[in-house]
Amino acid sequence: MKNFIKKEKKHLERIGKIFSSRTGFNSVLVDLRYETFKEFFKGKNCLEIGSADGQGTRHLLKFFKRIVALDGSKELTDKLKRTIKNRNLEVVCSLVEEYKPKEKFDTIVLAHILEHVKNPIKVLKLAKSWLKKNGIILVDVPNANSLHRQVGIKMGLLKKCTDLNEADKRIGHRRVYTIDALKRDIKKAGLKIKKTGGIFFKPLSNKQIEESWDKKMIKGFYELGKDFPELDAEIYIICSQ
Ligand SMILES: C[S@@+](CC[C@H](N)C(=O)[O-])C[C@H]1O[C@@H](n2cnc3c(N)ncnc32)[C@H](O)[C@@H]1O
Repeated sequence: MKNFIKKEKKHLERIGKIFSSRTGFNSVLVDLRYETFKEFFKGKNCLEIGSADGQGTRHLLKFFKRIVALDGSKELTDKLKRTIKNRNLEVVCSLVEEYKPKEKFDTIVLAHILEHVKNPIKVLKLAKSWLKKNGIILVDVPNANSLHRQVGIKMGLLKKCTDLNEADKRIGHRRVYTIDALKRDIKKAGLKIKKTGGIFFKPLSNKQIEESWDKKMIKGFYELGKDFPELDAEIYIICSQ
């Protein structure tokens, strides 16, 4: 375990230097994610697992009296501490696998973390053990069947939709989930599925969208995404114990 923690932290520090949830189209996707999530939030306290530099944390602060933002990267948790100061927020630098919470939570958010961790079922089981009896877990990951990845296959950039592309590798993704694979892991962790859905119909890459789309187009494709969850950029599952 000691060896795993040392290796994993080194891996996250490397990624923490190149990743931000607050820049480019990535930050817009985080905003749309929370626009979707907000109707599912429950209770007063929330654990955000994999908070990075806090674009999602900003949204959570509008809804909860207490938030614990947990991330294994010191680079990113330091940035979060420097830039968001709020008495309702506790920022913890720790791997999820070594975290020992002092409390249970009403809401736990796992947004874009399961594709990063070594053992996603173990992480889901830990989250389940930290949840209050009537609490809720929100899981959200990039979708292997997203339209932009399917175009990538037709262009010869990917062999199959679950392959890691260059961007996946750069930011430390270890897998790309289909909705069925995500459902399987959630069930294996002993969680119940309450609802599934998709977020944002994304035919092009982030870079292409940044170059030419305005706010109206982005809103239109967010709305369209509600009609085609299986093809969306992201898939989410709302779970309970
Ligand atoms: C893509 S970011 C997610 C950002 C944010 N949740 C969002 O929705 O934009 C993934 C984050 O998970 C963190 N992470 C990856 N593996 C982790 C682990 N085992 N324990 C804690 N944090 C981890 C990384 O440091 C990174 O900041």
